[in-house]
Amino acid sequence: MSSPLNIGMIGYGFMGRAHSNAYRQVSQFFSLKHKPVLKACCARKEDKIKAFAENWGYESYETDWRKLIARKDIDVIDIGSPNNTHKEIVLAAAKAGKMILCEKPLAMNVAEGEEMCDAVEKAGVANMVWFNYRRVPAISLAKQVVDEGRIGRPFHYRALYLQDWTIAADVPQGGAALWRLDVDVAGSGVTGDLLAHSIDTAEWLNGPIQRVSAATETFVKERVHAETGKVQKVGIDDACMFMAFFKNGSMGTFESTRYARGRKNFNTFELNGEAGSIYFDLEDPQYLQYFKYADPKTGAKIESHLTGWQKIHVTNGEHPYMKHWWVPGCTIGYEHTFTNALADFLESLETGKPVQPNFRTALQTQKVCDAVLASAKSGQWVEVG
Ligand SMILES: NC(=O)c1ccc[n+]([C@@H]2O[C@H](COP(=O)([O-])OP(=O)(O)OC[C@H]3O[C@@H](n4cnc5c(N)ncnc54)[C@H](O)[C@@H]3O)[C@@H](O)[C@H]2O)c1
Repeated sequence: MSSPLNIGMIGYGFMGRAHSNAYRQVSQFFSLKHKPVLKACCARKEDKIKAFAENWGYESYETDWRKLIARKDIDVIDIGSPNNTHKEIVLAAAKAGKMILCEKPLAMNVAEGEEMCDAVEKAGVANMVWFNYRRVPAISLAKQVVDEGRIGRPFHYRALYLQDWTIAADVPQGGAALWRLDVDVAGSGVTGDLLAHSIDTAEWLNGPIQRVSAATETFVKERVHAETGKVQKVGIDDACMFMAFFKNGSMGTFESTRYARGRKNFNTFELNGEAGSIYFDLEDPQYLQYFKYADPKTGAKIESHLTGWQKIHVTNGEHPYMKHWWVPGCTIGYEHTFTNALADFLESLETGKPVQPNFRTALQTQKVCDAVLASAKSGQWVEVG
C-alpha cells in the first residue's frame, strides 16, 4: 500500500526547482511505497513563492519557514536556501520531529554541523544531504568499480571543479542573486560551494582524507555589496588548491576556482591505482573511463597490445539507476541525479537502512573544508579532525 509523504520545500531558486522536479518525477520512475506530495513551499517574497507554488503544483505556500515547520501536515522539510539558513532551520525542524533533506554544504562550519548532527540524531529523524553527484550513474559505477577491487592499491586522486562567472570586478557581492560571494551568507567561497562536492565524491570513492595543505586566493579584493550599495572587502576564497593524503596512503590534489575562463561547471576526477584507473568528466556525464591493467581476481595482466582506456557508455539496464529510466543507449541528465538521490531516500524509509550521505557523513566533508581553510590561513599542513 502506498503512503503519501508531505513535502515542505524551502527556497524557489536553483535547488528549489531541481528538488521540486525530483518530487514530481520519482514515483513515476521508481516503484516505492512513499509517494511525495507537494504540500507546501516557502520563501520570504509572497509574489515569488505564490508563482512558484502555482508553476510546480504545490498545494499551498508560506512566507516564514517557522510556520512551515509548525504545520502538522508536513512530514519532510527540504532546505534549498542559502548556507547561513541551514542550521537554524535544521534545529527547529528536528525539534518538531520532521524528516530533513538539506542542501550542501551542510553548514557554515564544523561547529554548526556538529550541532545539526546532534539535533537530528537526538530527534531520531531521517536525514540526507543532497550531494547529488554521487547519483550520476557513471559516478555510482565508479564506486562499484572501486568496491570490486579493480583499482587495486590506490596511488593518486585528482579532482578539478572550475567555473568562470566571477571574473569581472564589477560583479557585486551579496543579495538574492549573489549571496555566494558574501562570506556571511556562504561561509566560504569555492571551498564550501564546489570543493565540498569534490571532497564528498573523493571520500566516497577513496576513503577518508587525513591531512591537507592548502592555498586560497581572492583575486578581486573589494566588491560593491548589493544590499548596502557600499564597496566592501570580499571575504570568500575565489580559488582554492589543496594537496591531501588519504587514510589509505594515496595522495590527492584538488583545485577549484571561479576564474577559469571558459569553464562553466567543469567537474572531473581521476583515481589511479596499481591494477587500473578511472576518470570522470561532468561535461561528458554519461561516460565513465576505465583503464584495466590487471584482472582483479587473478592479478593477471592484460595483454599489453590490448591495454587502453575504455569509454563506458553508462546507459545499460545493469548500470546504476538506469533500469528505472530508458532503454540502453539513451542518456539521462543533471536533473535525474536529484531524482535518483530522492529515490534512495524514499527506499531508506522502507528498508530502515539510513541513506547516504546523511548529516554525519556530510559533517566529515565539512571537517575537510574547515581543515583546508585553516591550512590556507596558517600555511601549514592540517590534520582533519
Ligand atoms: N547540490 C547541488 O549541486 C547544489 C547546486 C546549487 C546550490 N546548492 C545549494 O543549495 C542551496 C541553495 O542554493 P541555490 O543555488 O538554490 O540558491 P538560490 O539563490 O537560487 O535560491 C535560494 C532560495 O532560498 C530562498 N531563501 C533565502 N533566504 C530564505 C529564508 N530566510 N527563508 C526562506 N527562503 C529563503 C530564496 O528566496 C531563494 O528562493 C545552497 O546551500 C547551495 O549551496 C547545491
